[in-house]
Amino acid sequence: MTVPLLAGVPRLADLEVAGQRVLVRADLNVPLRGAEVADDLRISASLPTLRDLLDRGAAVIVCSHLGRPKEAGDPATSLAPVAARLAELLGVPVALAADVAGDDARARAAALTPGEVLLLENVRWEPGETRGDEELAARLAGLADRYVGDAFGAAHRAHASVAGVPALLPSAAGLLLARELEVLGGLRDDPARPYVAVLGGAKVSDKLVVLERLLERVDVLAVGGAMASTFLLAEGHPVGTSRVEEDQVARVGTLVAAARARGVDVRLPVDLVVAAEFAADAAPEVVDADAVPSDRMSLDIGPRSAARIAEAVGDAGAVFWNGPMGVSEWPAFAGGTRTVAEALAASAAFTVVGGGDSAAAVRTLGLDDRIDHVSTGGGASLELLEGRALPGVEALRRTAP
Ligand code: 3PG
Repeated sequence: MTVPLLAGVPRLADLEVAGQRVLVRADLNVPLRGAEVADDLRISASLPTLRDLLDRGAAVIVCSHLGRPKEAGDPATSLAPVAARLAELLGVPVALAADVAGDDARARAAALTPGEVLLLENVRWEPGETRGDEELAARLAGLADRYVGDAFGAAHRAHASVAGVPALLPSAAGLLLARELEVLGGLRDDPARPYVAVLGGAKVSDKLVVLERLLERVDVLAVGGAMASTFLLAEGHPVGTSRVEEDQVARVGTLVAAARARGVDVRLPVDLVVAAEFAADAAPEVVDADAVPSDRMSLDIGPRSAARIAEAVGDAGAVFWNGPMGVSEWPAFAGGTRTVAEALAASAAFTVVGGGDSAAAVRTLGLDDRIDHVSTGGGASLELLEGRALPGVEALRRTAP
């Protein structure tokens, strides 16, 4: 039997925070455009927890990573743009420490009073973070009296700030983490039916395990994006110059055969938008999925394929969508992603979008308000649906009293 994801995880409402310094591990790893935040989904999703703590009289210290910095102190991976956007959205000043858990962070944390917010610098500037170093966890814990884990997007990482600190301080799950576990746990364990999964994106190898797990549970599996070409090759169709993962073809073929044998309705593209080169201004042509010319590559699913997915989404009880259907940032190859996003928005099903690019697509199209849940986790939501334990959640179950 699967254990409900939130079982034994301490809740925010039960944590005494008045007059306490609370360290919140959030995932504020957002895309930047120069010094500006390009998409603030993760920042706005973190606000309810921060507001709850401030309203209850806590002094709040926020900790996050940004990107995968190669060296400490690199201005390109500073959280300065995030501090500015967080202050705007939260409506209170946000001070940015010059370091993570060094002299500046310590001095600022000690001087923090209830209602004030301090953001630590990029926690991955500390080499111990990704190693799950206990010394770094102890330095972070030394800044505060309580810990709140709210970084769903990083909950699959056994990093010091995610999985190390909860053992050292009384801790609880933040509101965002709890909501993600509730929604995605529901899909994992008891989805409304028919349950439709729509998977796209570039690499099938990243998604094979989740695909195998999903196929045990879904009624319909629709595949699009660049990874569909590997499925089409496994069906014996020509794929022209499309990007395929040759080494995954046999496994994909076995997976699809097993799914069909189990009665899963596997919807592979029946038509594709192809072009002669990988370029935004390449001329798009629609061809049947079993007739891709040898000098053409697939850059989107075609209109008939998108309509077949939209039809399944319209009849669904629950839908999980991860990964764009084509090169959605190029207008000529964005049609499949747009049709699928619109179908989710219009569907009466319980709809969940997981993952960076598909989440960004529904936000760009202004459809996010009509999706039941846009997850802040890419890798984390996939690992959760694969049935793997998330170190950031397990650590909260074992928190210090
Ligand atoms: C994400 O963007 O998926 C999370 O912030 C985790 O980032 P990571 O893959 O660099 O650990």
